[in-house]
Amino acid sequence: MSNKNKPRIAIYAGTFDPITLGHLDVVRRGLKLFDQLVIGIAENPKKCPMFDLDTRLAMVNESLCDEKNIKTVAFKGLLVDLAHEHGAIALLRGLRAASDFEYEFQMASMNRHLDNNIESVFVMAREDYTFVSSSFIREISSMGGDVSSLVPTPVLQRLKA
Ligand code: COA
Repeated sequence: MSNKNKPRIAIYAGTFDPITLGHLDVVRRGLKLFDQLVIGIAENPKKCPMFDLDTRLAMVNESLCDEKNIKTVAFKGLLVDLAHEHGAIALLRGLRAASDFEYEFQMASMNRHLDNNIESVFVMAREDYTFVSSSFIREISSMGGDVSSLVPTPVLQRLKA
């Protein structure tokens, strides 16, 4: 198959503890640019996630059940290795604010150092989600605050449980 006919696949990775509407906005923007997105749910034990890996995977799957051209996988190890495994040409990232830039720049540079053929591609998050992060969601929800406009229903159900 020539490169022209090959599906253009990107990886969108994160801990997704839990997935938020901000993440889903990035996924939908990514689907306009790529033929397929592989959502990589990082095991990330050093972040001591609130939801175990299976639950995070289930929340992502349920939140994206209407979307075609998406594959969800749990992973540990390097992002570039995940990209190789799935034949991806790009790493999709969302930028919420200027404060994200420095970390993203460092990560993109490191990933480029590891594999110069894989591009990091950034999309800007929707304005109403620029302040959303998974840790805020966990904190606010654990203190009884309302996060219903910031997370998909499968996440809200689990946070309430
Ligand atoms: N909407 C809402 N929240 C967003 C967001 C968006 N558009 N973009 C980022 N966030 C939040 C995340 O929820 C996360 O919040 P939290 O810290 O409160 O949990 C925070 O911003 C950081 O997100 P992210 O940079 O995606 O970190 P992550 O921990 O979720 O995932 C990996 C980081 C998995 C991509 C990274 O650790 C990785 O690549 N690991 C593999 C190992 C590797 O290859 N290392 C070398 C890379 S240089």
